Amino acid sequence: MTPTGMTNSTASAAPVLSIDDLRVQMRDGQQILRGVNLALTAGRIQGLAGESGSGKTMTGLSVMGLLPGLATATGSITLTGTELLGLRGRRMNALRGRRIGMVFQDPSTSLHPMLSIGTQLTDHVRRHLGLSRSTARARAAEMLERVRVSDPAAALRRFPHQFSGGQRQRIAIAVALACEPEVLIADEPTTALDVTVQAGVLRLLRSLADQMGLAVLLVTHDLGVMSAVADDVAVMRAGVVVESGGREQVFTAPAHEYTRSLLASLPGAEGGITSLDDVRSLLAAELARPEGPADADPDADTDSNTGGSHTGSDKGGRTSGRSVGQR
Ligand SMILES: Nc1ncnc2c1ncn2[C@@H]1O[C@H](COP(=O)(O)OP(=O)(O)OP(=O)(O)O)[C@@H](O)[C@H]1O
Ligand SMILES: [Mg+2]
Repeated sequence: MTPTGMTNSTASAAPVLSIDDLRVQMRDGQQILRGVNLALTAGRIQGLAGESGSGKTMTGLSVMGLLPGLATATGSITLTGTELLGLRGRRMNALRGRRIGMVFQDPSTSLHPMLSIGTQLTDHVRRHLGLSRSTARARAAEMLERVRVSDPAAALRRFPHQFSGGQRQRIAIAVALACEPEVLIADEPTTALDVTVQAGVLRLLRSLADQMGLAVLLVTHDLGVMSAVADDVAVMRAGVVVESGGREQVFTAPAHEYTRSLLASLPGAEGGITSLDDVRSLLAAELARPEGPADADPDADTDSNTGGSHTGSDKGGRTSGRSVGQR
């Protein structure tokens, strides 16, 4: 697939990735997932919400073939017809990172702290795509540009700790997308980022879905984030998807009691939906902001963040007044 090779208009309704009756059990008998059904379509963002421990991350890890060794998965996960469950070793390695990219919930998992960004990106595309060193370097710079990291040539020489939290998230997305996968799993990619930086990362995901025809699974506990960018919404509870449908439908007419209680528990919620609209308009305003050059980006502050391991939150009053990621 080329970056522009698939558009929304050519995206068929057939799912790119289909998860059917996925069950994951730990060796001690604990049922982590109890029959998850989800389908991702090209060019669409599928939001996945649900309380902590409901199995969102485990669902993503199942797709990547990265479940803990003590876990057994049954059911079916197909990528354009290829069954992924049970694929091991070389065959899974060939797909992971190549046809399915993942941005992990813990940002430190996505990027190696001791390797420069350039090394990480070029090694990744060389391994999967067999590019020459110089072509891989050019590709790495192009990816950084695409995720709007300023001065890509300089950024390639830097190490993860020399970037802000928002920049690191963008770089993690660049790594996940460097081989032009069909599917991106983004597990809480904006948690702990303030609302402005958060909006930048979300806008990026939206444009990648639109422009690359990427099918995105956006895991977030944050219904404000979900309502701002997801096309479809699924809500998990205790290892099952209890509600799923189009965004408007789920947010305006939630069918499941649990979804209603989630909506009602939004920060400062009094009328539930009313409060959601609040959060949504805040993010929508940020998302509607015209794209400027990378340098004008709110989190393009690599030089001023060379120490520590902060995660990009609380950046000197840059929030629009309310951080939706935190309750
Ligand atoms: N390595 C592991 N070994 C055993 N159980 C685990 C492991 N990782 C997660 N679990 C369990 O699996 C269940 C689902 O966890 P998961 O990480 O998928 O939740 P989540 O929905 O992503 O939550 P959060 O919103 O906190 O990220 C939880 O009960 C958790 O305790
Ligand atoms: Mg999780």
